[in-house]
Amino acid sequence: MTMSMNRRDMLKTLGATAGALAACRLVRAQEGQPHPLGSPAPFAWRKPGRPVTAAIMGAGGRGRTYAAYAQAFPDELKIVGVAEPIPFRNDYLAGIHGIPAARRWDTWERAFEIPKFCDAIIITTPDHLHYGPALAALDKGYHLLLEKAIAQSWAECRDILALARKERAIVGICHVLRYTPYFRMMEHVVRAGRIGEVVSIQHLEPVEHIHMSHSFVRGNWRNSRESNPMLLSKSCHDLDILRWIAGRACTKVQSFGGLRLFREEMAPPGAPARCADGCPAEPSCPFSALEIYLRRKSWLGHKDTPGDDDASIVEWLGRTNYGRCVFRCDNDVVDHQVVNLEFGPITAAFSMEGLTSYGGRRTRVTGTRGDIVGDESELQVFDFHARERFVWTVRDHGRADSGHGGGDNGLVRDWVQAVSRGDESLLVTALEASMESHLIGFAAEDSRLAGGSPKTIDPGALELAGR
Ligand SMILES: NC(=O)c1ccc[n+]([C@@H]2O[C@H](COP(=O)([O-])OP(=O)(O)OC[C@H]3O[C@@H](n4cnc5c(N)ncnc54)[C@H](O)[C@@H]3O)[C@@H](O)[C@H]2O)c1
Repeated sequence: MTMSMNRRDMLKTLGATAGALAACRLVRAQEGQPHPLGSPAPFAWRKPGRPVTAAIMGAGGRGRTYAAYAQAFPDELKIVGVAEPIPFRNDYLAGIHGIPAARRWDTWERAFEIPKFCDAIIITTPDHLHYGPALAALDKGYHLLLEKAIAQSWAECRDILALARKERAIVGICHVLRYTPYFRMMEHVVRAGRIGEVVSIQHLEPVEHIHMSHSFVRGNWRNSRESNPMLLSKSCHDLDILRWIAGRACTKVQSFGGLRLFREEMAPPGAPARCADGCPAEPSCPFSALEIYLRRKSWLGHKDTPGDDDASIVEWLGRTNYGRCVFRCDNDVVDHQVVNLEFGPITAAFSMEGLTSYGGRRTRVTGTRGDIVGDESELQVFDFHARERFVWTVRDHGRADSGHGGGDNGLVRDWVQAVSRGDESLLVTALEASMESHLIGFAAEDSRLAGGSPKTIDPGALELAGR
């Protein structure tokens, strides 16, 4: 085949695509009018009779995010205790929320040495410290808001579910994506039958390479034994969304993936253990700690001392993992992974890609009468029969009022409602619903470690869990 034929073919294809687009009607919402695709049912909100009282275990990024809800909506949530070993984080949260010394601890265990003193516990400690405080809190009769990943194994997840059921506790899991206007709209479109029956789903989670290096090479989620496999710590959100959109249980998974770039043998010649120790490749290395943290002053959320002055950043880089060469860390989590899934007759393909220049999840759903294409800022829904392409944008129809595309506040608002009204059904991310993504994640990771052998998911595993 000649070059000119390739070019002609390409132009023909482009022409056909343009023709196909031109032949369909583009439908957008009229200003001030409801969107023609409709909208998800609103959450049932009622002002609580009194604010739900809660103590925070772990006053890092997530702990501060959920505590900020109490600042914005003091009639709904009040933070009355904090356990956190880093003094300035503990002081910060206690100062803002007026927490007395008797309700401040340096570690979660101490919060459970005294009788129950509030309605609920918010667990935002690192992944390996979810199981311990979750069981202790449930045992004392607290309700829970528990960060994902729920725990470090399926057996631990089951223990938490069993105790939550026994204690009749309300447990919300922080799968915040289910609360974003964007994913809620996608789910609404599917459940409303706009694309007929779901046939297949393709979902991409591009992590962005600096984010990858910060969190999954140098940071808290770098090592699967200390934290969790990447599929659980990062992508349990995505597995949860796939399950939600599919609308039925996952029956089979298969996974491949590995760690390609961030390994010792990929280090530039002469690279020392830390970027600041005269690395010859530092000036041109995209992962230079000096460039990311010191010169750009970015990604400093995990710095464990206050202040962004150069001296304190240099001191911090000198003693923490964040100053280490990305090729010489104790990381073992993957930087790329694919998962094939079967939800009965529905097929799904998921890719987690650490080495991208961009973030923003991309999803394509095909159905028997149409399809959906989305990139977290816009959804396009095509109806094969009507030849209409509906366009829905976050900018025009789903403005976010908090982080994670509006998911952070949506989650806490819902959880406060569930706790204050004693009704777990008000939660779309209750423990039981959220467990399934973990069941899929642990099975997929087993498959990857076994070289990609398919794993059948026992449909009874969830029903049996914790009984
Ligand atoms: N839902 C989401 O979208 C989302 C996003 C990011 C992180 N997470 C999850 O939230 C959790 C916290 O993540 P983060 O980004 O806030 O991390 P972080 O490191 O900023 O915060 C964790 C905090 O726990 C504290 N801590 C450590 N040991 C403790 C102990 N024994 N007792 C009490 N506190 C202790 C740490 O000092 C730290 O301040 C993790 O499980 C993570 O996977 C969820």
